[in-house]
Amino acid sequence: MADLSSNFLGIQSPNPFWLASAPPTDKEVNVRRAFEAGWGGVVWKTLGEDPPVVNVNGPRYATLWSQDRRVIGFNNIELISDRPLQTNLDEIRRVKRDFPDRAMVVSLMVPVNEEAWKNILARVADTGADGVELNFGCPHGMSERGMGSAVGQVPEYIQQVTEWCKKHTRMPVIVKLTPNITDVRVPARAARAGGADAVSLINTINSVMGVDLDRMIMSPSTDGLGSHGGYCGQAVKPIALNMVAEIARDAATAGLPISGIGGITTWRDAAEFIAMGCGTVQVCTAAMVYGFKIVQDLCSGLANFMDEKGYASLADFQGRAVPSVKNWNQLNLNHVEKAVIDQDSCIQCGRCHVVCEDTSHQAIFATKEGKRHFHVNEAECVGCNLCVSICPVPGTITMRRLDAGETDARTGRVIDGSYANWTTHPNNPMRAGCD
Ligand SMILES: Cc1cc2nc3c(=O)[nH]c(=O)nc-3n(C[C@H](O)[C@H](O)[C@H](O)COP(=O)(O)O)c2cc1C
Ligand code: SF4
Ligand code: SF4
Repeated sequence: MADLSSNFLGIQSPNPFWLASAPPTDKEVNVRRAFEAGWGGVVWKTLGEDPPVVNVNGPRYATLWSQDRRVIGFNNIELISDRPLQTNLDEIRRVKRDFPDRAMVVSLMVPVNEEAWKNILARVADTGADGVELNFGCPHGMSERGMGSAVGQVPEYIQQVTEWCKKHTRMPVIVKLTPNITDVRVPARAARAGGADAVSLINTINSVMGVDLDRMIMSPSTDGLGSHGGYCGQAVKPIALNMVAEIARDAATAGLPISGIGGITTWRDAAEFIAMGCGTVQVCTAAMVYGFKIVQDLCSGLANFMDEKGYASLADFQGRAVPSVKNWNQLNLNHVEKAVIDQDSCIQCGRCHVVCEDTSHQAIFATKEGKRHFHVNEAECVGCNLCVSICPVPGTITMRRLDAGETDARTGRVIDGSYANWTTHPNNPMRAGCD
């Protein structure tokens, strides 16, 4: 059986699944039950200075549902912990004492002021916690007070606060990044420059969930007024995975440990983040939607996958997918694929024909010998994958790679197995060796 244990910055956990800093980790009763269910670690709900913040007394969450009412996107305007600091610290100490084998990381957010960071770090260290995560990501409420993403959007602040934290604690320092920026490599580099031991990402994305068309006000609202919230859940996974990849493949941050967050719902999501370089993964929305016990499926699914592939430990596949992520100009323009429709499983709904006809390359015939029959016209197909994306029967449309020696019926070009990308293409006036 595969070994799921993780060692992230010297912080041991029996599996790489940590609950992200959020409602599932905001008090002792939750975290105890999470550990009993099998979570490898937690990042405690963000702590701030006293007096505690005050949350709205109305809808702080909102949801994007799929048509079958599955939660695919989730939005919140919750602030950091609204309980007294000492109450949280006492609970952290007790839980860590009772679960010494689990990772206990504490998320922090105080004003950009060295004394404030020094003071809270000393109090957290005193609990026996394993590490701290600096919340430079929260995009609502706290950012208006100059904290959270207001820090995460200014590389100089990230570096400065990280330096203070490294100076005032021996605990590992994880910097949690906001996705509400243009290029995530810039804040990640600033975190490294400040001495961060790791980065974690993503925090939530600025979002407005909708408009109440009867009342003509944004939704959700508090007494008739609303405010943008932070978006998370399955829908944000591709955004998070891209940002993780950008950091993992950036020479300036290569090797910087990453804790992956954003939409992780299944073991497969987790495996993808690990393959993209993450040492641990953090989960919030999936736990809020399905409960703590999903960790059991996450662990068994990941272990089965690793057994099947012959990976004895997480290190055996961590980061394996990173070298496959390139800039577009490195992609092989000589590689050709064509769609293929399996006539045995096709239910003849016609959707592939409609979408290819209306918005792609008019490459799917709808009839054959006067009868309804969907098949690909290779002379027009550009291999765009749209038909695969909309076909309701999984596996019915697949993509076939043209082998060397075959002729592309669309261009008349014989595939010769050579590689050529945009940097050498004759249509590129800036190509290498251009005269
Ligand atoms: C209700 C709610 C409250 C959150 N509170 C915090 C917080 O206090 N500190 C923090 O760093 N992140 C907070 N987050 C962000 C999560 O930790 C996580 O980064 C984000 O939700 C993406 O992960 P997910 O897609 O698994 O939910 C919160 C998220 C939600 C949904
Ligand atoms: S891959 Fe694109 S171009 Fe080819 S048949 Fe499908 S939708 Fe049409
Ligand atoms: S969308 Fe799929 S099932 Fe429908 S006609 Fe096309 S191949 Fe057949």
